[in-house]
Amino acid sequence: MANFERHVFVCTNHREAGSARPSCTVNGKSELHLLFKQKVDAIGLKERVRINKSGCLDQCEHGATVVVYPEQVWYGFVKPEDVDAIVKEHLVGGRVVERLRLAEACVNSVQCPHRPISPKAV
Ligand code: FES
Repeated sequence: MANFERHVFVCTNHREAGSARPSCTVNGKSELHLLFKQKVDAIGLKERVRINKSGCLDQCEHGATVVVYPEQVWYGFVKPEDVDAIVKEHLVGGRVVERLRLAEACVNSVQCPHRPISPKAV
């Protein structure tokens, strides 16, 4: 069996309402993960692209969060209707879907405009 060309990690973490940070699923089920799997399977990419559930990717304020390796492209605010574009444009075409890509300043940054001010950051 050949190596996978890409791994797609879909955050499926769930936190209860009222938690200090939001989470990427509202009920612990990930429609996104299932949609990615179905679409990749439907177009015959299953042997080349691995779709994985992920725990929290620490980009919670940008959820739903999806990251594609080996390119290290982080997508944020991903909705079910965006899955087609990521599959067709990125996974098939090799082109990053820029409208869904998280800004560099938002990834792994406590000063991202989407995150509340952290007491640790001030
Ligand atoms: S809950 Fe999805 S990135 Fe943290």
